[in-house]
Amino acid sequence: MNLNILITAGDGIGPEVTSEAVAVLREIGQAGGHEFHFLERRIGGVAILLDGSPLPLETLEAALASDAVLLGAVGSPEFNSLPPEKRPEVGLLQLRTALGGFANLRPAFAFKELASTSPLRPEIIDGVDILFVRELLGGLYFGKPREWDKTTGEAWNTMRYTRDEVARVARVAFELASKRRNKVTSVDKANVLEVSQLWRATVNEVAKEFPSIAVEHQYVDAMAMHLMNQPRNYDVVLTENLFGDILSDESAVITGSLGMLPSATIGGKVNLYEPVHGSAPDIAGKGLANPLGAILTGALILRHSGGLEAEAAAIEAAVRKVLEQGFRTPDLARGDASAAAGYTVLSTTEMGAKVRETVKTLLVSA
Ligand code: NAD
Ligand code: IPM
Ligand code: MN
Repeated sequence: MNLNILITAGDGIGPEVTSEAVAVLREIGQAGGHEFHFLERRIGGVAILLDGSPLPLETLEAALASDAVLLGAVGSPEFNSLPPEKRPEVGLLQLRTALGGFANLRPAFAFKELASTSPLRPEIIDGVDILFVRELLGGLYFGKPREWDKTTGEAWNTMRYTRDEVARVARVAFELASKRRNKVTSVDKANVLEVSQLWRATVNEVAKEFPSIAVEHQYVDAMAMHLMNQPRNYDVVLTENLFGDILSDESAVITGSLGMLPSATIGGKVNLYEPVHGSAPDIAGKGLANPLGAILTGALILRHSGGLEAEAAAIEAAVRKVLEQGFRTPDLARGDASAAAGYTVLSTTEMGAKVRETVKTLLVSA
């Protein structure tokens, strides 16, 4: 297998976590005789400072020429007062648009080894395995008109979807559900918003193409509660862009830390892979970041862009094993005293090294 992977590490903890993900992928490449080529380009705040743009043309061209793009994170407090179109985050939104992937897959999986890390009781999170399918190219993020009119003191954004935009992402959700537990929960606010009424009607239309899949609808406010009360009820959760952004961070409570969550965006010209978390300026540069979300994102590259299921599963198994052995980054070193007594707290690079070591032994014994 030959894969050209563009690395856009970005800001804050982005470079720290992506370099651990790349190191794990290199290990897999060497062990299996795969040729993974990595090219690095700038995005976000660092690109604003060095290139004058959050998405330099060179980065965009390299992304379009690659087989997969791995993004770390963008965003830095020094740009917080800038208007949205000048901020680091716009570089990511432009990249998403250019690559064209509209279905952002965000698995939220409760590792049993982390049961005491979650503030939710173990019996609530035991066995949780949710796949969020978040629409990524529409809704409030991109709808026009959008403006802050400083003369009148008014600002507005537009949550806009076409039927086709809803139908294509709904199809992805139903297809994925058919390979899992045959259930799709679609999230909307159809009691208030016309755009959500279109969303719900379209999901019901698409559901007719998948008679063996159970479909249910939840309002987003109730869903935010149900997710914490009975997360095991959910298989595939289909959402529009902003609702999915919010609910996927909420699901970090199930997994114990935002630093555990990976994502893959499919359906466009080139797949885009990003951990769900941001640049975490509060811990950047200190070796405190959890690289497991980025490493698990690397596994999704192998699964969705490389067709290397066994290798993807080996990364996931290595992460599980390392957790089982009590290794923790500081964000995971929580829980009751008896659990905490068995932890060894590691830095970002130490955790990366543990996963590499473990993945190597798993590949040798396979
Ligand atoms: P954040 O996700 O960066 O951090 C939220 C909290 O989670 C922080 O306390 C942080 O320390 C912790 N955290 C996040 N990732 C972690 C990890 N891997 N290990 C340990 N702890 C981790 O969200 P925020 O603070 O609201 O936003 C910071 C910046 O990141 C903003 O500029 C925002 O726009 C940007 N952002 C970027 C992305 C992305 O690039 N994909 C995603 C979300 C936020
Ligand atoms: C995410 C982030 C991004 C989003 C921001 C940084 C544009 O929060 O990937 O979850 O809102 O999509
Ligand atoms: Mn987010």
